[in-house]
Amino acid sequence: MASWGKLIAAVLSIVLFSSRLLRPRRERKVPRARERVLILGASSGIGRAIAHEYAARGARVCIVARREAELAKVLAECAALSPSRDGTTAFSEPADFACAEDMVRVRERVVQEWDGLDTLVVCAGVSALRPLMEVAGLQRLDGHRFAPAQADVEHIKHTVGVAQAALSGNYIGPLVSAVTFIPLLQASSAAPSVLLISSLAALVPPPTRSLYASTKAAAHMLFQVLAIEHPAVAFALAAPATVQGAFRASAIDGGPPREAALERALAPDAVARRCVRAVDRAERMVFVPAVYGRGAHLLYWICPAFVEWRARAKYRFVAE
Ligand SMILES: NC(=O)c1ccc[n+]([C@@H]2O[C@H](COP(=O)([O-])OP(=O)(O)OC[C@H]3O[C@@H](n4cnc5c(N)ncnc54)[C@H](OP(=O)(O)O)[C@@H]3O)[C@@H](O)[C@H]2O)c1
Repeated sequence: MASWGKLIAAVLSIVLFSSRLLRPRRERKVPRARERVLILGASSGIGRAIAHEYAARGARVCIVARREAELAKVLAECAALSPSRDGTTAFSEPADFACAEDMVRVRERVVQEWDGLDTLVVCAGVSALRPLMEVAGLQRLDGHRFAPAQADVEHIKHTVGVAQAALSGNYIGPLVSAVTFIPLLQASSAAPSVLLISSLAALVPPPTRSLYASTKAAAHMLFQVLAIEHPAVAFALAAPATVQGAFRASAIDGGPPREAALERALAPDAVARRCVRAVDRAERMVFVPAVYGRGAHLLYWICPAFVEWRARAKYRFVAE
């Protein structure tokens, strides 16, 4: 009986500890209209939609990406959505988030404009869509044989080159962002927050996505560790399933999209709304959609063969 009591007490404390009810509302410390938000990877897709969300509620927004023309369009959209009459609460800075010089320049601009930062959104990322042997240049003949039969040095070196591009876009970028901005967040915000747009693929393995999933998983774990090392900063990690947009069109390995039912993919706006809510509520881990994502994550540990079978069907992957 006593052990049941202990178990119930332990479960209750875990629920209460993680409960939103016990967390002070961030808005009290950082009013929404004064929030200073930096979004890395905001020229399209989810980052663009997150910029819209923050601009529409009057936050001060800095958008960053490499394509200047696309950034200019998003900046105009943010100005149109802003409740501020002159629409001057947003600015843009073209930059590569994996480049230390670029990120220091962005930080200097942010300090010059706002004298600090409240929210860092790390959204930029790159896709890679081919099975690893295909990246190497080996053609699958059947379940067991490839043509050519073995990878030579050139095949292996080519694979390493593609992996380095995936690593730069999905891991080094988030790493450089963290080192550049976490001290500024801690020094200048009453409620510093970091949002990482991770991926369900970082947690549940999808076929044909070995380079994408493994590099996203590296960033996911990096930010989970940072959350422990920086308890004063609220870290939110968002793991969306497949999202509509051009993400696959710019795959670094030139691979084709393979997903069945891409038309049922999530809308970037819906993902953005959920991510912004996660930051507001200081949620740590957000699956989008919630039941599908969390369910797949849990089921993978209970019955991996079932999840792997469903993943093969989703990505139309046949190995034999
Ligand atoms: N689409 C999906 O199905 C899906 C699912 C789960 C998670 N995600 C994650 O969501 C994030 C956003 O993807 P999305 O669907 O919105 O794709 P997207 O429309 O292609 O957006 C990617 C953004 O990242 C920027 N970017 C890429 N590399 C960059 C770099 N080195 N420096 C600065 N900016 C860079 C791109 O801008 P520039 O090209 O102008 O630099 C663009 O603004 C990614 O991290 C992705 O892994 C996507």
